[in-house]
Amino acid sequence: MKKPETRSAASLPSPGKRQPVYVTRSITPDLKEYNTYLERILASGYLTNNGACVNELEAKLSSVLNLPHLALCANGTLALQLALRVSGLSGKKIITTPFSYVATVSALLAEGCEPVFADIDEDALCLDPAAVENILDDQTGGILPVHIYGNVCDVDKLGGLAETAGLPLIYDASQCFGSEFRGRSVLAYGDCATCSFHATKVFHTAEGGCVACRSKTDLAALKLARACGHSGDTHIMPGLNAKMSELHAAMGLCLLERAADNIAGRRAASLMYDALLPAHTLRRPLLREGLTYNHAYYPVLFETEKILLRAVASLNAENVFPRRYFYPALNTLPYLPRHQPCPVAESAAKRALCLPLYAELPEADVERICAIVRRSL
Ligand SMILES: Cc1ncc(COP(=O)(O)O)c(C=O)c1O
Repeated sequence: MKKPETRSAASLPSPGKRQPVYVTRSITPDLKEYNTYLERILASGYLTNNGACVNELEAKLSSVLNLPHLALCANGTLALQLALRVSGLSGKKIITTPFSYVATVSALLAEGCEPVFADIDEDALCLDPAAVENILDDQTGGILPVHIYGNVCDVDKLGGLAETAGLPLIYDASQCFGSEFRGRSVLAYGDCATCSFHATKVFHTAEGGCVACRSKTDLAALKLARACGHSGDTHIMPGLNAKMSELHAAMGLCLLERAADNIAGRRAASLMYDALLPAHTLRRPLLREGLTYNHAYYPVLFETEKILLRAVASLNAENVFPRRYFYPALNTLPYLPRHQPCPVAESAAKRALCLPLYAELPEADVERICAIVRRSL
């Protein structure tokens, strides 16, 4: 989910025109509380490099999510790069999904990996284990599925495949803060899982992310890799500058307790969409049984791209700005060396649209959006 656009004065709504409704709205901290943290940070003079706020947020997230080995970092893209690097996957062929935000692939490319695309399943829109099995070979270095929209992949089958083949399994769980599967955070699955704390997520640090791994050794490697790969004057590995600053961690400390209310508000708006939109002509991705959903998005699948474009034009005309998450399918990115066909993902990417969703979205706006969408079908 990408970054809210900055608007110039020229594009601000004219008086009398309805306020624009964007795909989401970031939760923001209480200014007094944030200032208390800022005063403390500025007085200490310690702005980054594994400071007190980062340590405090890391401990709180570990406890809230019940993930004992968790490292914060600068954003969700670098979280993926750290996970790939520490798992020894840089430069290798990695099986991944074509239906995701572009950072899944850009992180692979930045690590010198070759993305090998397997198609998604029609229902949940996550990587299809049967398609992965079909293309697995002795050149495969690892598997990178994405829990798309905060839903959960078929972790049993994907985990079984990775284990049998002896391959690392890294989940891109960027959209999953607050989603639980069988009573555990979705980030608890796989050899490691990454998350994004971008401003648009249900919990955020403005920019930020984390990697959850399964051992103290991997955690130490992640913390070393995020700090340029050195400890004092001892240089141990080629690292990244992927540290989270104190200012970002302070934002997270202010917002962590607000996440549950944010999810509850999004859930209420989602239920209203469910009730007001037809299910037969506007499909919703199927949530896997056993999932407690974080309501990170409200995606709908139109029957054709033409109908989607008609709906988007009608919504835009009424100052409503949904987003085409996730378009285009990543196997069709123009800068990739070859096209690996994935018909299910290519079709879904053309037909998927995320409608505006945030806790304070007024009911009247949901009704208005649904009426416009219904008229477009
Ligand atoms: C699936 C997925 N992967 C990776 C990212 C990258 O995260 P960030 O924007 O924090 O770098 C995102 C962020 O939106 C995402 O949705």
